[in-house]
Amino acid sequence: MTDHDHKKRDDCPPEQRFFGRRKGKTLSPRQYSLVDRMMPEIGVVLPGGSGAPFVPSDMYSTPKTKIWLEIGFGKGEHIAWQAKANPEIGLIGCEPYLNGVVGLLQHIDEGEIDNIRVYGDDARHVIRALPDASVERVFLLHPDPWPKKKHAKRRFVNPANLDDIARILKDGGEFRVGTDHPLYREWTSIQMTARSDFLWLAEGPQDWLVRPDDWPETRYEAKALEGKATYFRFARVARS
Ligand SMILES: C[S@@+](CC[C@H](N)C(=O)[O-])C[C@H]1O[C@@H](n2cnc3c(N)ncnc32)[C@H](O)[C@@H]1O
Repeated sequence: MTDHDHKKRDDCPPEQRFFGRRKGKTLSPRQYSLVDRMMPEIGVVLPGGSGAPFVPSDMYSTPKTKIWLEIGFGKGEHIAWQAKANPEIGLIGCEPYLNGVVGLLQHIDEGEIDNIRVYGDDARHVIRALPDASVERVFLLHPDPWPKKKHAKRRFVNPANLDDIARILKDGGEFRVGTDHPLYREWTSIQMTARSDFLWLAEGPQDWLVRPDDWPETRYEAKALEGKATYFRFARVARS
């Protein structure tokens, strides 16, 4: 991707722009060769302006009836765990940080995982391309908290993104949000309880304070700089 492409993409309202890092430490030749070898095979290619529909289940070598999406997978340990534990599911992982993408490719390569497809850019491109009610589960784990008030529009949990996530989730599908940041915890509960298309799956504090067995710890959670994590699970309310 050229600087010109980045400028074009970033020439949009702040709530649609990506503000994180795209590159960190220089990749080793071995890491570059992993990207060159694997991305043509397992990289997500969106239809773009071709007008063709995006059919996520077609991306896998064996047919998948259920699709899960992870937004901002970091170094990929969570999505790799889910893929191994749920071989019948087709997973899509989105992460604009190239060093993170390499981390996931290493998990996929070493673990011989064949049910993950990788998008090395902003998850919102994939979300916009996905058909209505096409996804069973969406993960958003430790999103950048953007704690300053003037940066609130950058938070991934925002009304426009939640509208899109509600659109792509099947009825009864699940949206999981993990955060260790007190402000983001409060922000998420306010944003989500204001909505009629999501139901918070919690009957008491144990439901958000204790990590479910099928929710492995991520790198950011392990760092837990801001405190103990909160595990939000929301169900997509059935469309009438
Ligand atoms: C704080 S890190 C958490 C990473 C990982 N989920 C974890 O828990 O270890 C947030 C990640 O979200 C990614 N991210 C931010 N905005 C994104 C977007 N619009 N689409 C996809 N990923 C995004 C960042 O690049 C970063 O890797």
